[in-house]
Amino acid sequence: MSAPRPRVLLIVAGGVAAYKALELVRLLDKAGVATRAILTKAGAEFVTPLSLGALTHDTVYSDLFSLTDEAAMGHIELSRSADLVVVAPATADIMAKAAAGLATDLATTALLATDKPVLMAPAMNVRMWEHPATRRNRAQLEADGVGFIGPDSGPMACGEFGDGRMAEPEAIRDAILARLKPGSAAPAPVGLMAGRRAIVTAGPTLEPIDPVRFISNRSSGQQGYAIAAALAAEGADVTLVSGPVALRPPAGVRTLHVETARDMLAACLEALPADVFVSVAAVADWRPAETAPQKLKLKGADAAPTVSLVENPDILATLAQPGPLRPGLVVGFAAETQSVEMHAAAKRARKGCDWIVANDVSGDVMGGAHNQVSLVTAEGVERWPRLPKDEVATRLAQRIAEAVNQSATVADA
Ligand SMILES: Cc1cc2nc3c(=O)[nH]c(=O)nc-3n(C[C@H](O)[C@H](O)[C@H](O)COP(=O)(O)O)c2cc1C
Repeated sequence: MSAPRPRVLLIVAGGVAAYKALELVRLLDKAGVATRAILTKAGAEFVTPLSLGALTHDTVYSDLFSLTDEAAMGHIELSRSADLVVVAPATADIMAKAAAGLATDLATTALLATDKPVLMAPAMNVRMWEHPATRRNRAQLEADGVGFIGPDSGPMACGEFGDGRMAEPEAIRDAILARLKPGSAAPAPVGLMAGRRAIVTAGPTLEPIDPVRFISNRSSGQQGYAIAAALAAEGADVTLVSGPVALRPPAGVRTLHVETARDMLAACLEALPADVFVSVAAVADWRPAETAPQKLKLKGADAAPTVSLVENPDILATLAQPGPLRPGLVVGFAAETQSVEMHAAAKRARKGCDWIVANDVSGDVMGGAHNQVSLVTAEGVERWPRLPKDEVATRLAQRIAEAVNQSATVADA
């Protein structure tokens, strides 16, 4: 006889991201997880019980006082019918009610009545997410043992930009699967980096000339994403600050999407303190001195506009500055096309960082799957063979783990 499928009770609340809950159900089904759904009244404004029910192959529960629902399954039984309760999207409203212990509808009653672990995937406007009330509610829920995945940062349906986008369904699925593993209802991070915090930057930055044009570079973000994933696989609490790339955020990594170098610096500073900072992003050295508010127009062959450039802030040097918030280990990347190691050693001294990973980008490295790096430390230069970017990331994560384990954690400080 085959083992019973693990079960999730999915609460879909009333946010724009509710449509992603449908994809989540599909991904869970593919992964062998059975889903039963509760749809809040507001949630039903965004997705229909019909589509949710078609994907869960089950009744969709909505009403606390429905005789039909209660006859099919009592609300207490429903709250305990799964191995894990997931709220996706978790609105500001449902977080507030759950933090206060309110039980005003079926969803909140199930959250109060359940004896199973709860995972929330918040989704809301950036101001709502940053509001002190929501921060308080999240802290209260965490203190009550509720787990969180996301939110991510990036452009929002409301036209604003910032933290508050629901984590991608694949990332939520992975977080669910990790929690459903036998003996990991409340998974404690394991690995050489458990209890350590890391900030990784990745991708290019994009510096606007006008609303439609920009200066950028060919960085794909692959190496930075792989390093963030490798550090997370070692148990680190990783914040990935990413420029615009076409990559899926790594599972288990808090990913903040930014565009300009100045936004990237602000996001990194906000993510401090950390034990490790790995600066992989290809930050644009310069940006247009002015961004035209309207699209620049063609004015004839002799009237091409001149774009004056100013220097961008130096993110690596700023994070490497001595001070109480300086991460214990600061690692920079130096992309060079000639005299790679010489330039890297000079960069290490100039920026005040501990290590430089020097990569020769004269070939197909940018956008390619392989990387050829040398690790430049105070002790000297180590040449690594040409390796897939994932393998460079794993090796570097292991070296980082060895180094930080010789010093105190941020939490210890
Ligand atoms: C168009 C629209 C979009 C909304 N999107 C969100 C959202 O993304 N996140 C959120 O917290 N609230 C959002 N709200 C507000 C919630 O729907 C509202 O707070 C509702 O009471 C939530 O109920 P629930 O938590 O029981 O599902 C939105 C409202 C509207 C009208």
